[in-house]
Amino acid sequence: MKIRYLFQYIRYLFRSKHRKGFGIHSPFVFRLVTDVIEEQTPYYKYSLIEKVRRLYLKTDKEVTVENFGTGESGRKKISTIVKHSAKSKAYAQVLFRLVNFYKSENILELGTSFGLTTMYLAAPNSKAKVVSIEGSKEIAEYAKLSFKRAGFENIHVETGNIDTCLSQVLAGFERLDFVFFDANHRKDATLDYFSRCLPKSHAKSVFVIDDIYWSKEMTQAWEEIKKRPEVRVTIDLFFYGIVLFDTDLQKEDYTLFFLPGGE
Ligand SMILES: C[S@@+](CC[C@H](N)C(=O)[O-])C[C@H]1O[C@@H](n2cnc3c(N)ncnc32)[C@H](O)[C@@H]1O
Repeated sequence: MKIRYLFQYIRYLFRSKHRKGFGIHSPFVFRLVTDVIEEQTPYYKYSLIEKVRRLYLKTDKEVTVENFGTGESGRKKISTIVKHSAKSKAYAQVLFRLVNFYKSENILELGTSFGLTTMYLAAPNSKAKVVSIEGSKEIAEYAKLSFKRAGFENIHVETGNIDTCLSQVLAGFERLDFVFFDANHRKDATLDYFSRCLPKSHAKSVFVIDDIYWSKEMTQAWEEIKKRPEVRVTIDLFFYGIVLFDTDLQKEDYTLFFLPGGE
C-alpha cells in the first residue's frame, strides 16, 4: 500500500465520527446512514453475483487490458484484475441498497470491468435501465457474457473510450438517477465526467465517486466536487464518496466511519 494512501486512511479514521448515525442532525441523512448504508441484511441476489466473482477469481485465463491513461496495458490475469479493481462485495452492496432505496431507474456506470458492480446496480429492479461503459474490448465481452449467464437483461455495455462516447450515451438518458464514476481516476477526467453528467441530475439523483483518496488528484477532484453549488450533501466512506443533490437538505459534508460487513 502506498504510504500516502495509508496516511489518508489514518486521517479518515480520525475524521470519521458518524458511525451508526452518531452526530447526524438531518433526520433524512440519519435514516440513509442507519437504514441503507449500514444495513446488512443479505439479499438473495448478492450470492448470485458473488458466485460470478468467485469464478473470475479462480480462473487462470488472461485478457488484453487497454490503457486509457491511468493504468498499464497488455495481457493480465483476470483473477488479478478482479481482485484489485472490482469493488469489494461490502461496498458494492452499499450501492445496491442506495439504488434500491432511491428506486433509481436510470443508472450509468463509468468503468464496467468484469461487471460485478454493474450487476449490483442492476439487481434491485429488473426494469431499470443500466448502461455501463468499458474501454477494453475483451473485458467488455466478458462482462456481457456474465450478465447473460447470470440472467441480467437490463444492462447495456457500451464499449469505447468514455472521453469520446459519453456524450452519445448521455443523449440516451432523459435523466440520471444514479451514476457510479469508476473509470479514469484522474482529476481532470473525473471533474469533466461529473460536469457532463450534472445537467441530467435531479433532486433525488445519487452520484458516487470511486477511490477519492487513491491519488492526490482524486482527492483534489473530490474536494472540488464537494464545493459545487449543485451539491447538497456528501458522505465520505473513504473508498468512495456519495453525492446528493436534494435542495431540501442542508449543505453538509459527512465522513462516515463505515465498517464493511455484508454477506
Ligand atoms: C476500476 S475498474 C472498474 C471496476 C468496476 N466498476 C467494478 O467495481 O467491478 C476501471 C475500468 O475502467 C476502464 N476505463 C478506464 N478509463 C476508461 C476510459 N477512458 N474509457 C473507458 N473505459 C475506461 C478500465 O478499462 C477498467 O476496466
